[in-house]
Amino acid sequence: MKDRVRRVMESLSPKADALVLANSVEPHLDMSFFYLFDAPSGLFEGSHAVAFPDGRLHVFSSPLEEESARQAAKGDSSVEVHTETGDEKQKVLKGLLGSSKNVALNFHELTHESYLAIAKAFPKASFSDASEALRRVRRIKDKKEVERLERAAGFASKVATEIPSMLHRGMTELELAAEIEHRMMLGGAAGRSFATIVGFGPKSAEPHYAPADRPLTPGVSIVCDFGALCERYASDITRSFRFGPRDDELKRVHETVARAQAAALEVIRPGAIAKDVHGAAQAVVDASPWKGRFTHGLGHSIGLAVHDGFAMNHLIDVPLEEGMAITVEPGIYLPGRGGVRIEDDIVVTRNGYRFLTTAPREYIEVPA
Ligand code: GLY
Ligand code: MN
Repeated sequence: MKDRVRRVMESLSPKADALVLANSVEPHLDMSFFYLFDAPSGLFEGSHAVAFPDGRLHVFSSPLEEESARQAAKGDSSVEVHTETGDEKQKVLKGLLGSSKNVALNFHELTHESYLAIAKAFPKASFSDASEALRRVRRIKDKKEVERLERAAGFASKVATEIPSMLHRGMTELELAAEIEHRMMLGGAAGRSFATIVGFGPKSAEPHYAPADRPLTPGVSIVCDFGALCERYASDITRSFRFGPRDDELKRVHETVARAQAAALEVIRPGAIAKDVHGAAQAVVDASPWKGRFTHGLGHSIGLAVHDGFAMNHLIDVPLEEGMAITVEPGIYLPGRGGVRIEDDIVVTRNGYRFLTTAPREYIEVPA
């Protein structure tokens, strides 16, 4: 953990004497806390982490999670776990931070309530924003992170491959979503990485649709977008299917989305600019009869959060670097009729990219 702490502290601008990360309650947990303190288990609500430029990390856990905290810190002399609460905790924090004038905080994740408590406890400190430094460091994944992303992608890919065999007349979007999540966990996932999207028919044209009790009937398109967690690392995959009689237009839409994804993948390598990668996919859709129907960005960085640091859209100037993990997910949406999206997770390599998700990408037509 020392390396990660040092890298973050070196990236801070302005420099700080200490970095303080404060978790509130779920869902207001700062994933950067788990980047610095790599504890695969435990919720760590109300916990603080205090990092110093020399790589030392102090973690304040509630007694409730002492076991998870000690397990995570085991064998790492740069990490000290504290379990004091209330006034005792304040005393230890004051002892650690008493002489720190410049304290960095993660403005992106800190709740206002936590900020006010820190400002009150350290009235002489000046506070700076660590969020950009954390984002920059976190977006380059190390070997351990890539392994976890790949395992998370494996859990989701396996289930994506099984979806055609799950489909049957009358099943609802919610039933299919439940089956997908159930199978991911049976396969070893620690949970879902976000609320599963399953849309039948016209609902498949809504990219962030929430599944409902709509039953599956013959002659509809289906979009399933879901992901698994592995030791807090997320995957995100989308596959699109057809149930029952073919729709020639939607089949051509799928072919176009597949070509758009291939065009984006073709330009992914270190140095490629996020907006240009998006542009490569956009150009394919814009040259098709469905110009204007690719209504979102091409993808996003993925890691401890599903949307982990930066977006891949027409506005983003971030150059890709070896070790970045991103999704590549073009889609075409025909309102009232149906949609198609194909989403894969990749990691940028020295010369190009490597797939993390592996499920077949072709349009699967399932007999009703
Ligand atoms: N998987 C949903 C999204 O990336 O927005
Ligand atoms: Mn996604």
